[in-house]
Parts: sequence; structure tokens; C-alpha cells
Amino acid sequence: MAEQLALMISERRLRARTAALARQIDDDYRDRRLSLVIVLKGAVMFAADLMRHITIPFTVDFVAASSYGESTRSCGDVALSGADRLVICGRHVLLVEDILDTGKTVTSVFAALGARRPASLALCALLRKPAAAALGLPVAYRGFDIPPDFVVGWGMDYAERYRNLRGIYRLVLEAEPE
Ligand code: PRP
Repeated sequence: MAEQLALMISERRLRARTAALARQIDDDYRDRRLSLVIVLKGAVMFAADLMRHITIPFTVDFVAASSYGESTRSCGDVALSGADRLVICGRHVLLVEDILDTGKTVTSVFAALGARRPASLALCALLRKPAAAALGLPVAYRGFDIPPDFVVGWGMDYAERYRNLRGIYRLVLEAEPE
């Protein structure tokens, strides 16, 4: 398969939007004990940027969720780890995700975190695709709505590659002529 990349969202736009989201979070959580829970691995770049812009105190924890493996399609089963050791009872938890595609990952993580009785649970996602938008998932902080293309870069991968790209790129896979 030949792979082609096309820029969708530049680093400049990503950084500006992330700073704006952080300002909203600052305002909304000023009087609450904020706990960020970051979903590995894809959200790591977005979260690092977001955390640098948030000025109020917060704690940070990580969970890992995976369902794409080496494919551009979700296998449908979300392998989740790390939620059982979180101490978030009574905390105001903000889940930080890179992308909402089918919405299965966030639904699964939300259920696991909700069972640990936080004072509140909200979602911050850099990107949202139409399928997730149609589900009506409550996204309190959203960076960009994007088309239903497979995207890489800024933490997101295809078979563990491209996470280091400084922008969001559409990945096009083309069968090579024989
Ligand atoms: C990706 C991405 C999100 C999730 C979104 O994770 O980082 O967590 O898929 O897809 P969904 O809405 O269809 O569930 P992936 O499974 O690729 O694991 P990774 O973050 O470790 O790369």
C-alpha cells in the first residue's frame, strides 16, 4: 500500500485552539479541584500542550485505551488499562482525548471512570468525527469537527507511525499497481 499525507490542520491552528480551550477550562474550573485524566497514547501531544496553557492547579493521571491496532478501523473492542488505580472519588475529572471517531473508546473510559464516583466527569477532545457527533456524546471542550477521514500526526498514529508529525494529516492508502 502506498501512503500519502495531506495536511488538514496546521500546528499554528492546533496551538491557537488548544490555548483557547485551556482558557475556558481555567474559567470553568477556577473554584473546583480539577483532575485531568489523559487517554494514552494518542492524546499525549494535545494534553502536553493543553497542560502548559492551563493556569489553575490540577492533578494529572493516565489511562491507556486501544482498539485500532495496525488498522484504520476500530476492532470494536476497547482494551482499557489503568482506570482501576485512579483515586478520583470526589474530584472534578476532565477526560482528555485526541479524537472521537466511533465514540467507543470514550464511552468505555467514561463508564470506567464514572464507576469510581468522581464529583463530576467531563470530556475534552481535540477532534471529533461525524459518527461521534451523531452519537451526541457530551463534549464540553472540543477543538475541531473534522470529516470522516483517517488522520495521523500530533500524537495520532497509523501502525505506530506518524505520531511525531507537527500537524494533523489525512492519511490516504492506495493499492500499488502490480
Ligand atoms: C485512538 C484514539 C482514540 C480512539 C478514538 O486510539 O487515540 O483514543 O482511537 O477512536 P474511537 O472513537 O473509534 O474509539 P487507538 O486505539 O488508536 O490507540 P492509541 O491512542 O494508543 O494509538
